[in-house]
Amino acid sequence: MDTPRRLRPSGDRGEDMPPARPFRSQGLRPGPLGGRRDAPPLGQLADARPLPDPLVPAPSDPEGDGPRRHGPWCATQFVAAVQMADRAGYDMVELHAAHGYLISSFISPLSNQRTDDYGGSLANRMRYPLEVSRAMRAAWPAERPMSVRISATDWVGEAGVTPQEAVDIARMFREAGADIIDVSAGQTSTEARPVYGRMFQTPLSDRIRNEAGLATMAVGNITDFDQVNSILMAGRADLVCLARPHLADPYWTLHAAVALGDEATEWPKPYLRGRDQARRLRDRAQEALRA
Ligand SMILES: Cc1cc2nc3c(=O)[nH]c(=O)nc-3n(C[C@H](O)[C@H](O)[C@H](O)COP(=O)(O)O)c2cc1C
Repeated sequence: MDTPRRLRPSGDRGEDMPPARPFRSQGLRPGPLGGRRDAPPLGQLADARPLPDPLVPAPSDPEGDGPRRHGPWCATQFVAAVQMADRAGYDMVELHAAHGYLISSFISPLSNQRTDDYGGSLANRMRYPLEVSRAMRAAWPAERPMSVRISATDWVGEAGVTPQEAVDIARMFREAGADIIDVSAGQTSTEARPVYGRMFQTPLSDRIRNEAGLATMAVGNITDFDQVNSILMAGRADLVCLARPHLADPYWTLHAAVALGDEATEWPKPYLRGRDQARRLRDRAQEALRA
């Protein structure tokens, strides 16, 4: 039998990357170098055998009854994704229960029009999302965190998920194994009227964190490191996610670390001369300001 080919996308330099300490023991760790100490080096799976194909055909559903017939099959797809993430060496997985995707469409009363045990009350609307969450948690190593992303409001007032209901939703996911709630909003209805602005979803994270006593991630139009630090220091979230700023500047975090005078952030070895230059330029700019 052929020996599986091992991918080495960055050649030997991939192994220059120092492993990071585990998430739970280190708290927030800015920088590009995620990964557990025991994780295989980039591109080298410890076990290169292919997983059994998880994408078995869905059962046919002539009566159109979703969760009872498709639910267990669909949950196996989430579990297969978790198993693949584990084998690929990921530090964290997230159940996407926001933005109108499958799980979100159970949670929101705008999309969930069911009249059986999976629709109506919040407990019923959460039944399938919690089944999936528990199945994922059971498949994911206990020492590694699992996040759940929710839409903490449908932005349609009382007809949809409200921020108050989101506190209960977050609690229910916590009880079903989530370590942290990634607090997004909306994208569930064309009727939505979002109140958009700087850090516009952070109040939702603040509410869930402080009313339910849960760890949260804040996300949404957070663009500079002062905002990030203010959110963390004010206890409005435990982690902060930035999406578009990293599209504009993939090294956003490294640049923020230099600007803040942070010396602890690890840079990939091939980039160290860029780091040193960035620090010199920062020091010169500060001296010029003082002069
Ligand atoms: C190009 C792009 C693709 C995105 N894809 C997804 C996605 O697949 N699922 C998701 O939940 N959010 C997605 N988002 C939303 C981001 O995760 C994030 O919540 C949103 O951009 C707000 O954060 P930001 O203001 O830092 O960009 C996407 C955003 C962008 C810009």
